[in-house]
Amino acid sequence: MTQKIVAGNWKMNLNYEEAKVLLKELINNKDKFNPEVQLVICPPMPYLSSFSEVLNGQSWIHLGSQNNFFVDKGAYTGEVSPSQLKSLGVTFGIVGHSERRDNFNEDYSVISKKVKALLDHDIRPIFCCGEQLQVRDSNVYKEFIMKQITDSLFKLKADEISKMVIAYEPIWAIGTGQTATAEQAQEIHTLIRSRIASQYDEKTANAVAIIYGGSCNGENANELFAQNDIDGGLIGGASLDLDSFLTIANAF
Ligand code: PGA
Repeated sequence: MTQKIVAGNWKMNLNYEEAKVLLKELINNKDKFNPEVQLVICPPMPYLSSFSEVLNGQSWIHLGSQNNFFVDKGAYTGEVSPSQLKSLGVTFGIVGHSERRDNFNEDYSVISKKVKALLDHDIRPIFCCGEQLQVRDSNVYKEFIMKQITDSLFKLKADEISKMVIAYEPIWAIGTGQTATAEQAQEIHTLIRSRIASQYDEKTANAVAIIYGGSCNGENANELFAQNDIDGGLIGGASLDLDSFLTIANAF
């Protein structure tokens, strides 16, 4: 295993007061978290600024964005640029989540520009990939996932892709309570790593963190994280509760 990363994707949940309570709970329980695990929280965008101030000097929790635009500044009403995120102390950024691909029609060309823009500002992209249930059932899921990766990422240079976090999130497992088995997840994670190794080289492939997302919780995290190529998790629902997030983060 290359590194250990557990990232909480809070999505569009929690009002500001509730979010501040959860952040405070995390901070107050710092000593209970395994210091070898890089913890990331990705709260709703409007909270990043005050979270960044509260977290100032608390480098054990990294701040992540859930989305970004790919242009630095200008007349793009409603968008947030990587340089603005950087100025807030954001060090990770989720890109290409299936909810954005589906609800906002983000395709590989937009996603690859967003990834590159984050890397240009020294923010580690958490690039999401994964298949719908019908793709899994049709048995071409491996080709489907490989195409997501090659189309969106393989124009990057080796030193860029080595900074990536790739989250394998089977869409049929997101928010459904249905998890990929540890074997199903490991199969895809190994495939992703070996595809990167054949396109770039072994060292680059081993530097990429490949994490699992999709109903990962306190009960299944242990078995998932025990797999060779699973370097952690991107956690949705279970990251909204201190105890479950703590159990997952300590599941290595
Ligand atoms: P979930 O979400 O853990 O609630 O399934 C994961 C994600 O969408 O990142």
